[in-house]
This record gives sequence, structure tokens and C-alpha cells, in this order.
Amino acid sequence: MLYSEKVMDHFEHPRNVGELADADGVGQVGNPKCGDIMKMYLKIDGDVITDVKFKTFGCGSAIATSSMATELIKGRTIGEAMGLTNAAVAEALDGLPGYKMHCSVLAEEAIKAALADYYKRQGKPVPDSLKLPCEDEEHGGCCACGH
Ligand code: FES
Repeated sequence: MLYSEKVMDHFEHPRNVGELADADGVGQVGNPKCGDIMKMYLKIDGDVITDVKFKTFGCGSAIATSSMATELIKGRTIGEAMGLTNAAVAEALDGLPGYKMHCSVLAEEAIKAALADYYKRQGKPVPDSLKLPCEDEEHGGCCACGH
């Protein structure tokens, strides 16, 4: 079997799909390898992510990793969400085939983009660890995020 049972479960029954009209942070990223897009909505109270929803226009692995990522950060602190890596999301799904690992990057980046948006809305400086390549001037605005 190419995909783990967990990947198939999250692909067929993705958790936390949708939008949050009153989100405190919204992030959208695009995958430069395939053009797929993910949008992440966060509701944040104090330091805690109280709700999260996502929409993914993408492949099954992107949907499964987004779904798992939302479960992993819901109820967690901003710091914990910031430290979530795509490798950890893939591991929580009992792994992805190597050539699909790039799909899991979308979830990590969408969370970071949504947290960065939250900091901006709060009028606070965005921590370096949340900056995506396109916001890095050295990078000349190359775009992994669909902005
Ligand atoms: Fe595009 Fe998986 S093929 S995210």
C-alpha cells in the first residue's frame, strides 16, 4: 500500500475543513512544485490557537497533511504551532512516500503564513522563523506562497 491508513483516513475524512469568518490570522501558500494552494485560518485567544480551519486545492497528500496539521495545532500555543515541521506532520500520518513529501510543506508554510498574518494584525513584528522566502528581500520576492 502506497499510503498509510492514516493518510487515507485524513484524505477521505479531512478534519477542520472550511473557513473562519472571524479568523485572527489567515495564511495562503502555493506549492511551487505543482501549483497547489492551501489556505489556513486561525482563531487565537491570548497565546492559544482555539480554532483552525483550512481549505486546500491540492492533491490527496496535501489534504491529508493539512488535516493532520490542524489537529496537531488546535488547542496548542503559538510557540508550539511555530515549531511544527512538515516532517512531524508526515510522521504523525505514519509517513508519506518520499516523492510526496513536498506536499506536506504546504501545511507547515500555511500555518506559518497565518501566524505571520496574526502578528501583523496585532501590530507586532513578525518573528524571523515565520518569514517565508518571498518575504525575504535577498530572495528577490520569489514566491512560494501565492501572494
Ligand atoms: Fe501538489 Fe501534492 S502534488 S501538494
